[in-house]
Amino acid sequence: MSTAGVVEIDLELVEELTRRETAALDEKHRRSLAYREQAKRRLPGGVSSSWQSWPPHPIYVSHGKGSHVWDIDGNEYVDYHNGYGVMVMGHAHPRIVEAVQRRVELGTHFAQPTEEALPVAENLAERYRLPYWRFGNSGTESTLDAVRIMRAVTGRKLVVKVEGTYHGHHDSLMVSVFPTPEQAGPRERPASLPQTLGLPEEFVNLTLCVPFNDAGAVERVFEEHPGEIAGMIVEPAMSNCGLVLPDDGYLERLKEITRRHGALLAFDEVKTGFTLAWGGAVEAFGVVPDLVCLAKSLGAGLPCGAIGGTEEAMDMIIRGELEQVGTFNGNPLTMAAAKANLLEVLTPDAYAEFERINGILGECRRVIERYRLPASMKMLGAKGSIDWRSTPIHEYRDLWDIDDRVPQLAWLWQLNRGVFKSPGSKWESWTTSIVMSDEDARRYVENFEELAAAITA
Ligand SMILES: Cc1ncc(COP(=O)(O)O)c(C=O)c1O
Repeated sequence: MSTAGVVEIDLELVEELTRRETAALDEKHRRSLAYREQAKRRLPGGVSSSWQSWPPHPIYVSHGKGSHVWDIDGNEYVDYHNGYGVMVMGHAHPRIVEAVQRRVELGTHFAQPTEEALPVAENLAERYRLPYWRFGNSGTESTLDAVRIMRAVTGRKLVVKVEGTYHGHHDSLMVSVFPTPEQAGPRERPASLPQTLGLPEEFVNLTLCVPFNDAGAVERVFEEHPGEIAGMIVEPAMSNCGLVLPDDGYLERLKEITRRHGALLAFDEVKTGFTLAWGGAVEAFGVVPDLVCLAKSLGAGLPCGAIGGTEEAMDMIIRGELEQVGTFNGNPLTMAAAKANLLEVLTPDAYAEFERINGILGECRRVIERYRLPASMKMLGAKGSIDWRSTPIHEYRDLWDIDDRVPQLAWLWQLNRGVFKSPGSKWESWTTSIVMSDEDARRYVENFEELAAAITA
């Protein structure tokens, strides 16, 4: 890592500031803190998903409108968390509210096809340049379907994933998500490690890991397992090591390698879809894979996932040989929200808003230079991150250089000054929304500059 010309962060000062910021946060969240004790009696940890509980304590949200959210203590924030990158259209968007209200009156579930799904599929086909689509309820279901399709189509069992990428919580892919240096093995041949208890090693061993942005490593793994690999799943831009963009030509090479070895390529666009560009990473980087997995922003805040594919990839589903199923798939309420979202809200014009916001957030680069911070910044569409490393993160293992205490302080700092970001900001990229004002973007920059001054004092 290049450290020339940057200041060295005083970690004792960071700890002292963190103690101060934590105390200030606790003070503002008396109701959240008390409510967590109540909630713990019935909800493990007081929350509904383990990652909703981040130290110092979970923050219980009451409502959101546009680019702002309010917690149950009445604190107001500009929302850069946006529900782990879902709410790029902003909270309670009038078009979405209207579409959902209209559909609620007509009944919300039949487990029979309704007329809402087709226009959504038509729009996705245009955005992602893939002809066939099926729906589910989450990103986990989309990537599960992708793995199943890759295995069914090829009759092979092994899958390749990138070390340090999260693709959801099913057994095939909850592997080597946040491996530690002690466990991870050599960079060229990363170990396959269960991310959670309860993962049978048989599943873990069927998943082979490679570093991001290294097509040579992918080539090697295919050569070492001839005729055994069903396919590779990859986030075309990693979004949980900050934002990591693919090197020029990397995605093209993945397509070429998988094709040459008779395997499939799936893009996990659960986070990049609808955020990097109108047509997600497919549009941003100009590579069309065999399969695209979507979720998050698709349902505009309602649980929705989708898997799209080429005719060859989806052929077994088309012919009824492979069953892609789910009680709530294509649910009319979710589809009504998705339809309004895709056709009326997240239109090609809406994407210009991200350029406006990024123009202001880009000021953080000047702050990094002015205070000579050991940090770097990336942005694309609604996504971006400031990483506490001078040389931009290029693959998961680069994150190991960053001391967790610095991004934790940066997160607390923003939170105490009215900017809500996803917890775990060392890993998470931020998400802006098309309804953010210039003032919302400036608040982020001002807070960042104040932090820069405090940690370099
Ligand atoms: C890239 C990626 N894929 C898949 C998932 C899983 O999505 P879900 O939480 O909707 O199951 C996530 C969740 O954060 C994700 O970031």
